[in-house]
Amino acid sequence: MSTYDVVVIGSGPGGYVCAIKCAQLGLKTAIVEKRATLGGTCLNIGCIPSKALLQASELFVEAEHTLPKMGVKVAKPKLDLKAMLAHKDATVKSNVDGVAFLMKKNKIDWLTGTGKILGEGKLSVTGEDGKAQEYEAKTIVIATGSDVAGIPGVDVEFDEKVIVSSTGALELSKVPGHMIVVGGGVIGLELGSVWKRLGAEVTVVEYLGTILGGMDGEVSKQFQRMLEKQGIKFNLGAKVTGVKKNSKGAEVTFEPVKGGDAETVSADVVLVATGRKPYTDGLGLEKAGVVLDDRGRVDVNEHWQTSITGIYAIGDVVAGPMLAHKAEDEGMAVAEIIAGEHGHVNYDVIPSVVYTEPEVASVGKTEEELKKAGIEYNSGKFPFAANGRARAMLATDGFVKVLADKTTDRVLGVHIVGKGAGEMIHEAAVLMEFGGSSEDLGRTCHAHPTMSEAVREAALATAFGKPLHM
Ligand code: NAI
Repeated sequence: MSTYDVVVIGSGPGGYVCAIKCAQLGLKTAIVEKRATLGGTCLNIGCIPSKALLQASELFVEAEHTLPKMGVKVAKPKLDLKAMLAHKDATVKSNVDGVAFLMKKNKIDWLTGTGKILGEGKLSVTGEDGKAQEYEAKTIVIATGSDVAGIPGVDVEFDEKVIVSSTGALELSKVPGHMIVVGGGVIGLELGSVWKRLGAEVTVVEYLGTILGGMDGEVSKQFQRMLEKQGIKFNLGAKVTGVKKNSKGAEVTFEPVKGGDAETVSADVVLVATGRKPYTDGLGLEKAGVVLDDRGRVDVNEHWQTSITGIYAIGDVVAGPMLAHKAEDEGMAVAEIIAGEHGHVNYDVIPSVVYTEPEVASVGKTEEELKKAGIEYNSGKFPFAANGRARAMLATDGFVKVLADKTTDRVLGVHIVGKGAGEMIHEAAVLMEFGGSSEDLGRTCHAHPTMSEAVREAALATAFGKPLHM
């Protein structure tokens, strides 16, 4: 029987990063994965393939609508969906191959199959042939991620062709005439945007009164207007109670949350994007004595240790935002703890990005959260319409908002809607990690002309009550 210092179950961004860090710290490490490729949901059927389609579909729209405004005349672009999907598949392949290379480079064994915890320090891995192999591990890290949640109380049969989850929505063989998206969260808006850009009529049905629930209210409202301008339709405050296939495609039934008559609308494709749930199936947790919390997540302490000594859990399978980068940070921190070092994750500074056009990015608290907590704050805003580079790029939609403590000026939250927001947010994250103030950010020299100057201007508006260029 092979013996390891650490066996990580699951090779998504949490698991594979944890394995690399363990190996770098001198621990004999293995990773268990049942998929044919490494990288988990993120690399295979999540973040990476969706970004390939978002980029390609954005260029498709730009070629027709933006290039002529800049004096570049091109014939009306034609969609070659097969080639676009091939670009997506090639992107996935190069990324998953990259992870396999990193495993080899760091001398991490890939145990192919389904991992099951047999008890403290013991696990089995069952391959496709049904044969189970047992292993010993001083430490086991559960990094099994999450799965599509479906709609609680509603029977949804995903065929991944007509009624699809995010997985099927990455592989549609033709552009649907009408796509209904159930759930106005991150997945619904990103993948809804892709198919809208490629020519589908897209209707989002969302339970809450706003899209991107939990985001800063002002950001969410303005962002919704921008998506409406792009042609996406919204049905907010509507609870979906039925999703069924019919002879033409599928139909979705929903009713106003406040009460009223139900409505049934037909679509060629329905994307159900109503959240994800922790994935613990077949792991043998109950028998091993690993305790779950009331929402089915693995219960861990502040060092990601489960109820059983030597068994840790990280990523989507534990509490916190279901984000690849949060999982990666936990993976790195837990490896350090296992090696006897001091791993730490600052949950107050985890950026969040929606990769639409324009992008939405935020880090720290929203205005609503500050109000609820009774924290007095200063707020400064700057629109990209007043930024020289944004004008040159025809990217004037959106703004930056900085929120800072009224007494100390410490930055508590930054929210950006605009082209490239997902890159710009990191200067705010670094500032906040160091406990910086809006004055610090406002006094930091920013290269001209850049979109990032709008971040500086919003900081100046927060620190001094007004920006320079307005
Ligand atoms: P989500 O939690 O972001 O959004 C789900 C939405 O569905 C919510 O707004 C909810 O109110 C709505 N909903 C639930 N039941 C409903 C019903 N019966 N009728 C109408 N609306 C209903 O979940 P989503 O978009 O599926 O994403 C899952 C996870 O993946 C999230 O944690 C998200 O953060 C993560 N993710 C992150 C990405 C990013 O960071 N760019 C990209 C994709 C996913």
